[in-house]
Amino acid sequence: MALWKVYYTATHLEDALRLLQEHAEEARIVAGGTDLVVEMRNQVRKTPVLIDVTRIGGLDTIRQGDDGLIHLGPMVTHAQAAASPLLQAHGLPLAQACWWVGSPALRNRGTIAGNIATASPANDTITALRALDAQITLRSVRGSRTVPFAEFHTGVRRTVMAPDEMIVDIAFAPLSEHQHGAYLKLGLRRVVTIAVVNVAVVVELADDGTVTEARIALGSVAPTIIRAPEAEAFLVGKPLSDESIAQAAQLASEAARPIDDVRGTAWFRNEEVDALTRRCLEAIQAGQERLDLPDPEQMVKLWGRTRRWPHLSGPTIAHHADGDEPIQCVVNGKTVTVQGANGKTLLHMLRDDLGLTGAKPGCEEGECGACTIWLDGITTLACLTPAPRAHGARITTVEGLADGESLHPVQEAFIEEDAVQCGYCTPGFVMSAAKLLEEIPHPSREQIKTALSGNICRCTGYYKIVKAVENAAGKSK
Ligand SMILES: Cc1cc2nc3c(=O)[nH]c(=O)nc-3n(C[C@H](O)[C@H](O)[C@H](O)COP(=O)(O)OP(=O)(O)OC[C@H]3O[C@@H](n4cnc5c(N)ncnc54)[C@H](O)[C@@H]3O)c2cc1C
Ligand code: FES
Ligand code: FES
Repeated sequence: MALWKVYYTATHLEDALRLLQEHAEEARIVAGGTDLVVEMRNQVRKTPVLIDVTRIGGLDTIRQGDDGLIHLGPMVTHAQAAASPLLQAHGLPLAQACWWVGSPALRNRGTIAGNIATASPANDTITALRALDAQITLRSVRGSRTVPFAEFHTGVRRTVMAPDEMIVDIAFAPLSEHQHGAYLKLGLRRVVTIAVVNVAVVVELADDGTVTEARIALGSVAPTIIRAPEAEAFLVGKPLSDESIAQAAQLASEAARPIDDVRGTAWFRNEEVDALTRRCLEAIQAGQERLDLPDPEQMVKLWGRTRRWPHLSGPTIAHHADGDEPIQCVVNGKTVTVQGANGKTLLHMLRDDLGLTGAKPGCEEGECGACTIWLDGITTLACLTPAPRAHGARITTVEGLADGESLHPVQEAFIEEDAVQCGYCTPGFVMSAAKLLEEIPHPSREQIKTALSGNICRCTGYYKIVKAVENAAGKSK
């Protein structure tokens, strides 16, 4: 069954806005698709018309504007933001929040704008943006308006955005040398996990160490992100001492209004707000607020040598699910034309229409990595990528990894180390690992674990897989 009726690939912002207005309630923007495709597969919300804005040039910039604010375009991905030197220096809580979203392949496609628009109170970036006192600019054919972040979300999965509006800019004042921020998240596991609770803190310190301003934002403890005003007011005028931190953390916990759900009880969430607030403030007190965020040049992104997503020019393209407009792309070095795949995911186009069964359907929800491929050189989950997104793109699957008769060093190393049992997960691991070695030829064990953190194996276990990647790295010059 087709997941949507028509998929537009817009090449200009004005076209996307015009289509949004024309189709109103029937249409939605698709960015990374990491929320939207899951929703559509699970029939949470049906949307007949999708408007892909990922190929429009100029929407993926992170820059400091003439107004002094840091501006992020709507196509800025989590991977881009986490690795941005500007954000690491002047918007640290946001870079940290982006770093803790999902897995590398998910961060490569998922955008901050998508995270904001989805409006789940458990999302990572929105807590950081609330602490940074951000603002959102919305645009439609009717004009544009800028909304303070605090007013943007009106409830669980509800925002002030009208159906014809699109987020076009996310902005906040850069943190000065006197301002320090940190973000922490507690999930049920370390990666690919939605927050049970998350906390973002920004404090301004005078030269003598006295707090002159504090902003504490709490996520997953109310229908929208909330601030902790009593805790903030308590800190002002005091130094960050063990006592003031403990008291502020307690007051933050009292501000939380959590509920019991499958991820945690209300009591547990209150306790964790206390713990995470304390850890953020202690990190700032110790000058260790980077926590474990890697430097941009050490960060595993799984882009290899690719620098950014390519854009398309020309007119807007339409692919109707029941139409015969072809998807033309280059797969494993060969130009292919596919008809009849306009309403499916790229995973099913590769398998059903092109007979490339290396990418596997595992969870088909972005959780297992069995469907990992490279889209325009960037590691991507094929199960969350609409097939028409591949039009005009280059795709590499595990079938395209070997160079003629010789296997890729990662494939050889998997054989040498017996890093395979049933083999179902193996293509996904191999694609992630091969991209890692293109990006960081001699990775540390920690970097290998990060690269493979979105790939799940149910039978081999991970020791042999990590060893195989180390073995392959040893072979590279
Ligand atoms: C396995 C898995 C793990 C995940 N882990 C995390 C996690 O750890 N933390 C977390 O916060 N989230 C997580 N997510 C959720 C998701 O990845 C993020 O919310 C992501 O940022 C969504 O961005 P996107 O570009 O993929 O949005 P899409 O899926 O493309 O769109 C999501 C929604 O936003 C709308 N939208 C997108 N861009 C715009 C725009 N510019 N203007 C207006 N509306 C827009 C779309 O119409 C749609 O309604 C996870 C998802 C999966 C599947
Ligand atoms: S992540 Fe795509 S099938 Fe599991
Ligand atoms: S080898 Fe069987 S799931 Fe990994």
